[in-house]
Amino acid sequence: MQLLIDHASLPAIRQALDDFPIDGVTTNPSILAREGGSPLETLRSIRRLLPEDAVLHAQGVATSAESLVDEARALRGEFGDNFFVKIPVTPAGLRAIRILGKEGFPITATGVYSPMQAFVAAKAGARYVAPYVNRLDNMGVDGVEVVAQIQEIFRANALDSDVLAASFKNSRQVLSLARLGVGAVTMAPSVLAALVSHAATTAAISAQNGDLAKLIGQARTMLDLIDEAH
Ligand code: E4P
Repeated sequence: MQLLIDHASLPAIRQALDDFPIDGVTTNPSILAREGGSPLETLRSIRRLLPEDAVLHAQGVATSAESLVDEARALRGEFGDNFFVKIPVTPAGLRAIRILGKEGFPITATGVYSPMQAFVAAKAGARYVAPYVNRLDNMGVDGVEVVAQIQEIFRANALDSDVLAASFKNSRQVLSLARLGVGAVTMAPSVLAALVSHAATTAAISAQNGDLAKLIGQARTMLDLIDEAH
């Protein structure tokens, strides 16, 4: 399962790259708008920050199929390899996915709220489909169950597409999808940090280090002992 950051703030992305095994960054128009300034410059800065093999996903905002295709090609011209264009699963978007899919263009179909949208987008040529898990939960639909159905449909139909699950607000949703083995999940750095932080871990390690500190002194480590032994 790929672990992606759904954010456009450079300090937050830098921190996440330092702390976690991140495979790339996803953005959407709202995320870019939140940063202000030029969205193109923001995307360029994110690309520069990312390791070469990390992926970047950015969304087309054109409303006709033809202009979405042009926008996608221009974005690919800017960002080259390891770039995925996000295209909404609207009628125009699905037409654009079909055109670009024939060229083998890396596409993430976005705005997915139902398994059938995911099926059609995958059949049209999307490499990833992005169901909005938390937004589904907020609508009274079980977002994790929708993802499970999409996985089942992909496997049953031998479709070469994966789920890139998006829109998380709590770590339990992510945990459920890790158990399903989805292709990728994307979330804000704060959700990711909450996923791995555990009060019991902090308490256990602090107690263990405290025990050793009584023996070797506060703020001293094994390195101090090794240095002193030479
Ligand atoms: C994914 O493709 C979307 O851009 C995003 O994850 C939606 O997340 P939100 O529901 O937190 O806005």
